Amino acid sequence: MTAAIRAEGLVKRYAGVQALRGVDLEVPAGAVLALLGPNGAGKSTTVGILTTLVAPDGGRAEVAGFDVRRQPRRVRAAIGVAGQHAAVDGRLTGHENLILFGRLHRMSRRAAGARAAELLDRFDLTGVADRLARTYSGGMRRRLDLAASLVAHAPVLFLDEPTTGLDPLRRDQLWAVVDDFVAAGTSVLLTTQYLEEADRLADRVVVVDHGRVVAEGTVDQLKHRTGRPTLDAAFLALTAPGAAVPAMAGRAA
Ligand SMILES: Nc1ncnc2c1ncn2[C@@H]1O[C@H](COP(=O)(O)OP(=O)(O)OP(=O)(O)O)[C@@H](O)[C@H]1O
Ligand SMILES: [Mg+2]
Repeated sequence: MTAAIRAEGLVKRYAGVQALRGVDLEVPAGAVLALLGPNGAGKSTTVGILTTLVAPDGGRAEVAGFDVRRQPRRVRAAIGVAGQHAAVDGRLTGHENLILFGRLHRMSRRAAGARAAELLDRFDLTGVADRLARTYSGGMRRRLDLAASLVAHAPVLFLDEPTTGLDPLRRDQLWAVVDDFVAAGTSVLLTTQYLEEADRLADRVVVVDHGRVVAEGTVDQLKHRTGRPTLDAAFLALTAPGAAVPAMAGRAA
């Protein structure tokens, strides 16, 4: 079976910055991959290349079986994208934004309306559906953006830091929505700063730093590889703290 996403040796240079230095990754059909890494690691650049928004300087990538450089239109037709920065139009209401995305995906008026209503409900936005998106809070805008990425029911979904800015309740709701899409066969690449989120959603994790893949595996494998045993100790009395040293000796191995 064709992988949902396959990238080999992706390289990207910006003036004075080597954003990617040869990134390889693969997402099997129906799987969820988390791209984990600190600020500036290259996560959004990788997503940008895979979603045809950024031209790579080297390497190759296929999404849904199509080459991102040679078949960008085919790739775009097969993906849903929630970028790191909201792409919704502040001059439209939440409802109008979702209808617009549906119509851009050639849905009928009726189908787009039904889908918009369903997603507004799913993302807890029904109460603000008729307000202009520019009056939304950051978290509301983020949820509208995530909803917009799901309008088309694309087989491959890219979510760049989907839960940044969401409160814990809305974060859990988003995780449940992702679960539903995965259960329906959607393949997902998401980026995150949080191991907890990768643990909750992803089958595998690719850790990037300074434009390189520095670790890869299941969350459990990564925890075993990078975790060090720790010992938490507290003093009950400070009269003879030196006495703690022999007591703890050998325990933190
Ligand atoms: N358009 C651009 N022009 C110049 N440099 C860029 C551009 N986009 C990204 N970079 C640089 O490329 C590197 C990787 O950036 P990228 O946005 O991919 O990181 P990230 O892992 O998504 O970080 P964050 O967690 O902060 O979102 C950074 O050094 C960044 O400054
Ligand atoms: Mg980013």
